Amino acid sequence: MKVLVIGSGGREHALAWKLAQGARVQTVYVAPGNGGTAQDPALRNLPLADPHALADFAAAEKVALTVVGPEAPLAAGVVDLFRARGLRIFGPTQAAARLESSKAYAKEFMQRHGIPTALYASFGATAAEVAAAHAHVSRHGAPIVVKADGLAAGKGVVVAMDEAAAHAAIDDMLGANALGVRHNAPGARIVIEEYMPGEEASFIVLSDGKAVLTLATSQDHKRIGDGDTGPNTGGMGAYSPAPVVTPNVHAKVMHEIILPTLAGLAKDGVPYTGFLYAGLMIDAQGQPRTVEFNCRLGDPEAEVILMRLKSDLFEVLLQAAEGQLAGIELQWDRRTALAVVMAAHGYPAAPRAGDVITGLPAGNAELQVFHAGTALDQGRLVSSGGRVLCVTALTDSVRLAQQRALEAVRQIRFDGAQWRSDIGHRAIKH
Ligand code: AMP
Ligand code: GLY
Repeated sequence: MKVLVIGSGGREHALAWKLAQGARVQTVYVAPGNGGTAQDPALRNLPLADPHALADFAAAEKVALTVVGPEAPLAAGVVDLFRARGLRIFGPTQAAARLESSKAYAKEFMQRHGIPTALYASFGATAAEVAAAHAHVSRHGAPIVVKADGLAAGKGVVVAMDEAAAHAAIDDMLGANALGVRHNAPGARIVIEEYMPGEEASFIVLSDGKAVLTLATSQDHKRIGDGDTGPNTGGMGAYSPAPVVTPNVHAKVMHEIILPTLAGLAKDGVPYTGFLYAGLMIDAQGQPRTVEFNCRLGDPEAEVILMRLKSDLFEVLLQAAEGQLAGIELQWDRRTALAVVMAAHGYPAAPRAGDVITGLPAGNAELQVFHAGTALDQGRLVSSGGRVLCVTALTDSVRLAQQRALEAVRQIRFDGAQWRSDIGHRAIKH
């Protein structure tokens, strides 16, 4: 069987690596892929991005299953296009992907279906609405959270610890668009929400539109610096399982968040197929609330989750794409997986490309280096994006997995490399 993975990051490298282990899988194409997927003999890069060209390829090559990694092609409707052409694909439709691509839609959906989340208000860019947004902040005070409505690669959120920061964020997002958000038509919108204290976790499930399967829990680290300091990034590291998701919290998440969300979508006429990622905030009493939904696997959460998955991912996703998920169970390695991201000089504001990378260890069952922003340049491996590598270790404890990952990180060289040495610190304290 041939499989196609759409995307080019660490998540897609991990997906392709895991899919290629499938008993019936012959070739995994990655479009467009990266330097790591180019070097892996089991994978083949495909220099295509246009959804129509990808569908033509899948049809001509009789690809058995296409799996979509990132949100952008989902929000652009790649699943709808493949399905209209009778091609098997795993992911949410464009309508269902709005749960991620529009924060205003997601908040309204959660409120209407009684799904626990922060209270919010939504504002447009007219002078009257900008004034109302400022008045809202003055009325509620800080801390308060200001979010751009649209895809922003994790950068469109300002957690304002004082009122001045919130007022500045409103002007940045509705006026100057200083964060460079790709806004939803017809123009800039923001959501202002209540600040939720607590500990975050990533809770990811997959659904075929009817049945739901939960993946292993995980937690990522969004800030660039040790001790969770500095600007937000796409994610600097992750580990699985996340001890903060106790069996009791897990049950609450399923009954209060995941199942009502899937049922609500079905009731609204947009049955959800694909990975669904609930970003959770879990308070001191163990009560989870939804920070956001993503319509895809997390990155770097996918790397640690897939490192622990023992089941044949191809067979599971094939069944899911066929609407046959009921009765399937996933097998997990009981050990801990932990990933440390190596990012480029200047990330997240202005990552530098073209640094030569050396010292990569050979992968094995307990250590894998998934590539994100890498490319091959005349036979040399060079950096080509903000997050460059995702060094992932699997072993008996969080502390040991962190040590193993960092040992490998220190062998890998490229100029200006940045990484965190405290990934998993919350679980180590637990
Ligand atoms: P988002 O893109 O919505 O996931 O937000 C990015 C990050 O901002 C989250 O991972 C949280 O750390 C933080 N955040 C977002 N919304 C809230 C909130 N209402 N209260 C506290 N922190 C938040
Ligand atoms: N690591 C966070 C995300 O994938 O959205």
